[in-house]
Amino acid sequence: MLPSTRQHLLGRLKEMRGLWVSGGELSRELDVSRTAVWKHVCSLRNEGYVIESAPRKGYLLKATIDRLLPSEIKASLRSNRLGRNIVFENEVDSTNRLARDLAISGAVEGTLVVAESQSGGRGRKGRNWHSPPGEGIYVSLVLRPRFQPAEAPKMTLLTGVALAESLIPIVHSRVTIKWPNDVLAGGKKVAGILIEASTEIDSIEYMIVGVGLNVNTPMGRFPAELRERATSIALEIGHEVDRTEILRAFLKRLEYNYDLIGREGFVPVIKRWRELSDMAGKHVRVHSFDRSLEGAIAGIDDEGVLLVKASEGTLHRVIAGDVEYL
Ligand code: BTN
Repeated sequence: MLPSTRQHLLGRLKEMRGLWVSGGELSRELDVSRTAVWKHVCSLRNEGYVIESAPRKGYLLKATIDRLLPSEIKASLRSNRLGRNIVFENEVDSTNRLARDLAISGAVEGTLVVAESQSGGRGRKGRNWHSPPGEGIYVSLVLRPRFQPAEAPKMTLLTGVALAESLIPIVHSRVTIKWPNDVLAGGKKVAGILIEASTEIDSIEYMIVGVGLNVNTPMGRFPAELRERATSIALEIGHEVDRTEILRAFLKRLEYNYDLIGREGFVPVIKRWRELSDMAGKHVRVHSFDRSLEGAIAGIDDEGVLLVKASEGTLHRVIAGDVEYL
């Protein structure tokens, strides 16, 4: 896909960072008038880019911004469908809520809702997702999958695989997946997944894939009750990272795995999930609906159902629940 004039302009200014580039040169390269170049520069400035301009010198990009802006995300997006249409909000109650509203009004598959912060970020089981500005990634994608509603829970596993695959090259401590919806780095939760869907008897009208990822969160910024269990990428590797780059990598891996199930079903994704999870053999307590169960994790079956072997030897199949490591 060809970049828009605005993206192209931003790309050129970034390449020349620290050096002036003339308005005439930009107008020739982008094949637009000098006035159009000026208008695009003004709109980039409105987004927060610091671009100087001077007669006979042209334009100079002084500073980019650490915000998950559509222009930054699209600059070198490697996915073809996911994230091509982006809705950005500085603050929203919940990106999942906004994505659902957009899905109901017909948003195309792959529409990405991104927020710098959420005032009511939602986690599983009515929990809150800590979503301060500038530190994390809070996104929701609108999908319109063709598989049967019964397969929908497997999308949480697929999203976990995509997240882990995008984090492994960056985070050197081991990245693992914990059933059903957590991604861990160094044994602590670094990301959570919340999938919501609207289904008919035999089809899925839309699915919202919500992901919250702690990227540059310092330990002191986590609420006290989370500090034992939560981490961020920066905490694991010792320095801050570019959130946009991580988001692009995630969209690419998500699209790869999503396309894979279109061709081969969920079996290869479940297989990959098993490789990326270190749950097998762990002693756990599982809270499922109104009962809890203790035992050792035997794995997940091809339907994504958790298998727990209780101490007296019975194998239990857990369809939904929370797993506590003992
Ligand atoms: C969990 O681990 O409980 C799931 C957390 C999911 C949080 C993300 S942040 C972006 C999206 N919007 C929400 O309101 N929730 C998800």
